[in-house]
Amino acid sequence: MVAVPEPEQARWLAEAYRYPGEAVAGRPWVRACMVSGLDGAAAWQGRSGGLSGAADAQVLAVQRALADVVLVGAGTARSEGYGPADVHPELGAARIAAGQEPAPAIAVVSARLELDPGSDLFARPAASPGARTLVITARQAPTAARRALERVAEVVVAGEEQVDPPAAVRALAARGWYRILSEGGPQLLGRIWAAGLLDELCLTVSPLITAGDASRILRGPGPGAADRTPMALASVLTADGFLFTRYTRATCA
Ligand SMILES: NC(=O)c1ccc[n+]([C@@H]2O[C@H](COP(=O)([O-])OP(=O)(O)OC[C@H]3O[C@@H](n4cnc5c(N)ncnc54)[C@H](OP(=O)(O)O)[C@@H]3O)[C@@H](O)[C@H]2O)c1
Repeated sequence: MVAVPEPEQARWLAEAYRYPGEAVAGRPWVRACMVSGLDGAAAWQGRSGGLSGAADAQVLAVQRALADVVLVGAGTARSEGYGPADVHPELGAARIAAGQEPAPAIAVVSARLELDPGSDLFARPAASPGARTLVITARQAPTAARRALERVAEVVVAGEEQVDPPAAVRALAARGWYRILSEGGPQLLGRIWAAGLLDELCLTVSPLITAGDASRILRGPGPGAADRTPMALASVLTADGFLFTRYTRATCA
């Protein structure tokens, strides 16, 4: 459940997290928001909520309120019990004034399509028809599961065996959704990064040490052992012992 920010705080944060001009002008901008413990864990007891807190939930609520679409992997949608996004009325009005849907659509990425058509994600009404959940899948996804999901959502094919992140982003842009907020999880974000699509990482550092074997915030083989992406620190906020960092892709000289 995403906490509702106070209007004043919400407006201030909305300015701090405003998408860059090119995202509004028609070039997709992929922002990822993730939380990590001090020792790098991306989940506690299988969910990110155990690392989060009220201030983090407020930041996430504002980030959602600014996005055209929330892009999420099926693993996260399943483990975190996703449903359609709600947006604070204060920020919802600003969205409508800016020509956005009242809330961002949720776009779930899955190859296996083990998604329950009766779950909240599909059964709970979205804020508007234009914010209905979208499923992004691969051509080789199981046919029966695909047919079942087509009854409750729009299903888009973007890739053969797996979803090809650039094709997925093109499919979102074709709907006029340029302000893309990826809420992970680690596998999807690893693939987005490996495809060179990660423009911005909003990393919340939670004041918790959990150890254990939880994933990092990005997982996957990456484009090659020698590849590193330099990122530039754009801003840092703090509340309740949390750090809210925002890094954008550094432009190389
Ligand atoms: N710390 C944080 O901020 C944060 C954020 C999100 C999640 N998490 C945590 O991360 C854990 C889940 O990790 P995860 O890596 O499994 O999450 P994930 O990336 O959300 O889910 C992985 C699944 O997403 C689908 N997927 C991802 N990329 C795909 C692609 N290119 N093509 C087709 N399908 C693709 C596949 O679904 P199918 O199996 O259906 O094909 C894959 O099994 C949970 O514990 C969650 O709480 C933490």
